[in-house]
Amino acid sequence: GSPFFHYDGSQLMVEAVPVAQLAERFGTPLYVYSRAALKAAWESYAQPLTGRNALVCFGMKANSNLAVLQQFAQWGSGFDIVSGGELARALKAGARPETIVFSGVGKQDWEIRAALDAGVKCFNVESTDELERISSIASGLGRIAPVSLRVNPDVDAQTHPYISTGLKDNKFGIAIDIAPQVYQRAATLPGISIVGVDCHIGSQITQISPYLDALERLLNLLDTLAGMGITVHHLDIGGGLGIRYQDETPIAPATLLDNVFAALQERGYGQLQLVMEPGRSLVGNAGILVTRVQYLKHHESKNFAIVDAAMNDLLRPTLYDAWHGVLQVNQPSDGTSALVYDVVGPICESGDWLARDRTLSLTQNDLLAIESAGAYGFVMSGQYNTRPRSAEVMVDGDQVHLIRPRETVEELFASERMLPA
Ligand code: LLP
Repeated sequence: GSPFFHYDGSQLMVEAVPVAQLAERFGTPLYVYSRAALKAAWESYAQPLTGRNALVCFGMKANSNLAVLQQFAQWGSGFDIVSGGELARALKAGARPETIVFSGVGKQDWEIRAALDAGVKCFNVESTDELERISSIASGLGRIAPVSLRVNPDVDAQTHPYISTGLKDNKFGIAIDIAPQVYQRAATLPGISIVGVDCHIGSQITQISPYLDALERLLNLLDTLAGMGITVHHLDIGGGLGIRYQDETPIAPATLLDNVFAALQERGYGQLQLVMEPGRSLVGNAGILVTRVQYLKHHESKNFAIVDAAMNDLLRPTLYDAWHGVLQVNQPSDGTSALVYDVVGPICESGDWLARDRTLSLTQNDLLAIESAGAYGFVMSGQYNTRPRSAEVMVDGDQVHLIRPRETVEELFASERMLPA
């Protein structure tokens, strides 16, 4: 259990609020976040970084609701963005531009211009083409773009292949063996100022060794660069710390940071600013997706709980075969018989499932909470089957804030245009 999502008797609570009450008031499917859980996750980074030269840039792709961003900005977080859209959101939520790093393999002209206008801390550049483009746009505007190269250290993060990004066959980053020559090129470009080195090796990482291998390679690169007369101001080790979905043993940020700072000291880079880009580990276990059982269906060899949330609301099971815990919002009284269910949505796809083979005691209209839905949940949701995206609420003690109302059906096609009659 978690102190933020816990049972009071047989009722699931978010902080001091019964989940069933939220479902009554706002309907389902419903994303519910705990502000205290967000704060605790933030503190797990902020505390070990106290007194250190470091900046945490929340990987906002994991959860970009303005209220969530606003909290992180108030706590002192920076932001890792990957689009002009994320830049606009971050600024709207109160992010300070000098704490924003801009990642991503496909930055477009307008996005580069917007980031230069805003005055972001750094572009994490992923190819030589991109480097040249940023230089020419910056020069055209009479600006100098601060850049890091995102290098690909070719380490195996030992996570799901879809979310592993640091191997040399991934589309991400610049191969570490050619990084020195790209830095050399960067040093000659008029619109570029070299400020850092960056990597991101994957997501949901539960072992420390891939980080330390990557760090070792980055430090070797820094040595090479120093030999070429190129020095940097910061080192960005990316995001990727895993969380517990089922039975994983995540690495505490403090453990990783102790190791990283020790390595920096030992190699003579103690003065560098350390930048990190955590996403999932700041929000993943701060959110649940609440859904209501519509129908129970018993086939010869399988039982299905058909709920009102679907793959358009939470794509991770369908896309990654991801496991999310399922809690009964009202624990059944003893004596209700349990069955093994697949929890599935109403969408016309066999891949539309949220959880498989779960032992649950269900009756029609029961509420379920899908756990660990705070990261890559709502942000990956869509409107397939013309399903309005769900509402999002933030609980803070006994206070409830609606931070995004449920979409209406009319909104779904309000901007579409029919052909002339
Ligand atoms: N920085 C960069 C450049 C990234 O590409 C990512 C995530 C992050 C930071 C944040 O990583 P995190 O701390 O969350 O692992 N949709 C997938 C995860 C995709 C992660 C993509 N990159 C999922 O639901 O598991």
